Amino acid sequence: NEDGTAVTGVGGSHDKRFAEGENENTLTNRQGHLITDNQNVRTVGNRGPTTLENYHFLEKISHFDRERIPERVVHARGAGAHGYFEAYGKVGDEPVSKYTRAKLFQEAGKRTPVFVRFSTVIGGAHSPETLRDPRGFAVKFYTEDGNWDLVGNNLKIFFIRDPLKFPDMVHAFKPDPVTNLPDPERMFDFVSQSPEATHMITFLFSPWGIPANYRQMQGSGVNTYKWVNQDGEAVLVKYHWEPKQGIRNLLQKEANQIQATNYNHATQDLYKAIEQGNYPEWELLVQIMSDGEHPELDYDPLDPTKLWDPKQFPFLPVGKMVLNKNPENDFAEVEQAAFGTGVLVDGLDFSDDKLLQGRTFSYSDTQRYRVGTNYLQLPINAPKKHVATNQRGGQMEYRVDMAPGQNPHVDYEPSTLGGLTEAPKRGKDHEPYYEARLVRQKIERANDFAQAGETYRAFDEVEKNELIANLVDALKICQPQIQEKMVEYFTKADPEYGRRVREGLEKAKQDMQAHTSSAASDQAMEQAEKMGHKS
Ligand code: HEM
Repeated sequence: NEDGTAVTGVGGSHDKRFAEGENENTLTNRQGHLITDNQNVRTVGNRGPTTLENYHFLEKISHFDRERIPERVVHARGAGAHGYFEAYGKVGDEPVSKYTRAKLFQEAGKRTPVFVRFSTVIGGAHSPETLRDPRGFAVKFYTEDGNWDLVGNNLKIFFIRDPLKFPDMVHAFKPDPVTNLPDPERMFDFVSQSPEATHMITFLFSPWGIPANYRQMQGSGVNTYKWVNQDGEAVLVKYHWEPKQGIRNLLQKEANQIQATNYNHATQDLYKAIEQGNYPEWELLVQIMSDGEHPELDYDPLDPTKLWDPKQFPFLPVGKMVLNKNPENDFAEVEQAAFGTGVLVDGLDFSDDKLLQGRTFSYSDTQRYRVGTNYLQLPINAPKKHVATNQRGGQMEYRVDMAPGQNPHVDYEPSTLGGLTEAPKRGKDHEPYYEARLVRQKIERANDFAQAGETYRAFDEVEKNELIANLVDALKICQPQIQEKMVEYFTKADPEYGRRVREGLEKAKQDMQAHTSSAASDQAMEQAEKMGHKS
């Protein structure tokens, strides 16, 4: 709602008329017919057979048969909550209007309702929440200018920078198509041919790869976006969420202990905290860079595998978010929620980040398939404001997006007969100029290893030890060419990093050989015993 209190996604206005003997709690079917017997199907005699005109039974069972929709192709496991975003009216010490005209940021204290969905990435809808995996952090802001989705992750960077590689990456990380088992060899086979993933792998195999829960993790938009002011001038921005609850990550053995008894600890933690009034909060911070290629940097500002050095590009607070209401229904709100990187409001824009542009097609495309053509008419996805379009029909159209004064015969624009009209412009358009050859090429400043090394050196001893142990554990079952390539990448990042992984792998190999030869000698002994030759 306008005051920032949570918005609910279920229910709806039904015309409340009651049939004879009916009250609010009386069971009906979806035609409004009273259900007088919900225990027995209609049969010929009480032993059957059943009859086909059992409307209530057929409706009930066939709806049940369709209860599931396809799970998200990635980020299937998630938990959600409602709340609000409160703007500071400034970005750091400057007025925010200098950089963006987006209304939600302008006034100090202004509240915008939000819905957030946290998730894991690779596991299915009921997979354990303890697995090593990035965590999704998707926020829908229901602004007065329509919806803005900030679809981020907990980690600040990503595995790849080209969207063409995304389906292959996900295939390699998901379970084997034959055995349906997760297989680190498939994952590292792909990664060993994708050096740009070295930085993300360094985070993922450290304790940062298993956040303790959803409340105590950071969030980041990862991709580079733009802010546009009233004069159409743009800057590059990156978004980050900082949890006021502090940050907590798990060691592998801690995660194993939790997983032994609980597959749902993160969802439980979030739900319980909100139920108990212990509302989680995050501060939203941005990093700003002038628009341009920045040849002075040793990385490309549009490269999502890179961090922007916070000393050069400080984290500037712009507002905070509070989550204060649990969903009333998980399916209606959390499962059917549809976030996408294309969903921006006036004053926010895309950058030329290729990964971002690939994502922007992918989200609404999958949602038309996963939820349905009219997914934006569902309460959780619809903006909390006036909507008037000339889009009509499609499966499950829930209402006609018509303005009260609109001529119902005119579902097109332009028209002189009382149809919808275009809105006035808000400010100057941002009109970047392009001139280049159309090519298929990697960016010039790929610089795949330097930041991975910096990240490694910034880890404390516990984090380094975990990283090495976790990498060795995953890589030890991989074929030698994969191991060698990964050690090469880690060495390029930092010689100590590479050496420690190599030594770990050598030790693991010796241990395995010792184990195999002792198993072989046990087997030989067993064989000898069977043959009656006791040695
Ligand atoms: C979910 C595609 C990269 C964060 C999804 C979904 C698709 C997708 C198809 C399922 C959406 C749905 O069913 O509603 C892609 C592609 C990418 C990419 C093609 C790269 C080319 C990223 C990156 C991030 C990210 C870099 C983090 C910044 C998320 C999140 C969700 C998601 C948080 C779950 C949203 C929710 O809770 O409903 N992605 N993704 N993705 N993606 Fe991406």
